[in-house]
Amino acid sequence: MPCRREKSGAGQMELTPREEEILKEIDRDRIPVHVAMIMDGNGRWARERGLPRSAGHRQGVETVREVVRFSNYLGIKVLTLFAFSTENWRRPLQEIDFLMSLPEQYLQSELPELVRNNVRVKLLGDPERLPEKVRRAIAKGLEATSSNSGMLLNFALNYGARMEIVRAVRAMLRDLQQGKLKETDISEELFAGYLYTAGLPDPDLLIRTGGEFRISNFLLWQLAYSELWFTSVYWPDFGRIHLLQAIRDFQQRERRFGRISPEQR
Ligand code: IPE
Ligand code: IPE
Ligand code: MG
Repeated sequence: MPCRREKSGAGQMELTPREEEILKEIDRDRIPVHVAMIMDGNGRWARERGLPRSAGHRQGVETVREVVRFSNYLGIKVLTLFAFSTENWRRPLQEIDFLMSLPEQYLQSELPELVRNNVRVKLLGDPERLPEKVRRAIAKGLEATSSNSGMLLNFALNYGARMEIVRAVRAMLRDLQQGKLKETDISEELFAGYLYTAGLPDPDLLIRTGGEFRISNFLLWQLAYSELWFTSVYWPDFGRIHLLQAIRDFQQRERRFGRISPEQR
């Protein structure tokens, strides 16, 4: 259908009849602008198959490929993926090492397609503690896609919302001390500008896979009015169908932002 091609960020895509069916229930003009995802359940996915946790993480990268492609196709403007939290350093060294090999692997194989599809890559989080190879891979991804104007793909790596907020407070204090700011300048908007997500709209939709009902220190400030969507599906099993279901459910919700429904006025 030519009209679908026009609205998609990344050309044509073969959909299954079931996916087509859900897509028909979705208003393509009201796709959430910013979708954030807590990619959880890799370890349990592997354990249920008698595999090492690393097998779950490897399969999880396949889901990332698919989700990035499909998000772009649907016309999502900002996709933020929680890949490694500031608390994930508490895991066994061997697992951390494996996780730290994945950004490079992913970007090495996907970068040409990301460039072609006009996707821009960004890092949310503190690069300091990340191994050199991760920093290099991300820097390369950033550079190669910096002039792209399509979907923004944020990788939250060594990201923790509390750390992000403390970092913002410090930076703000510095500006205050240097006279670049005065106390009365401090507002919600100004503060948001000190976060990693400066300039981006807040997530409209947060998806968490893996069956846990918590935020795990992700985007605490930015999620204030996001619609939350949880699924017990493990991240390696998360697919286009689930993203379509999440968007369809999102579109059925009434976002009131503290107001009352128009029909109650
Ligand atoms: C998500 O899967 C990946 C990261 C947090 C890095 P997990 O590794 O947390 O998988 P579970 O939750 O143990 O199943
Ligand atoms: C959240 O998952 C972090 C990422 C998906 C990167 P965790 O598996 O670390 O969360 P908890 O520990 O179950 O809250
Ligand atoms: Mg987990």
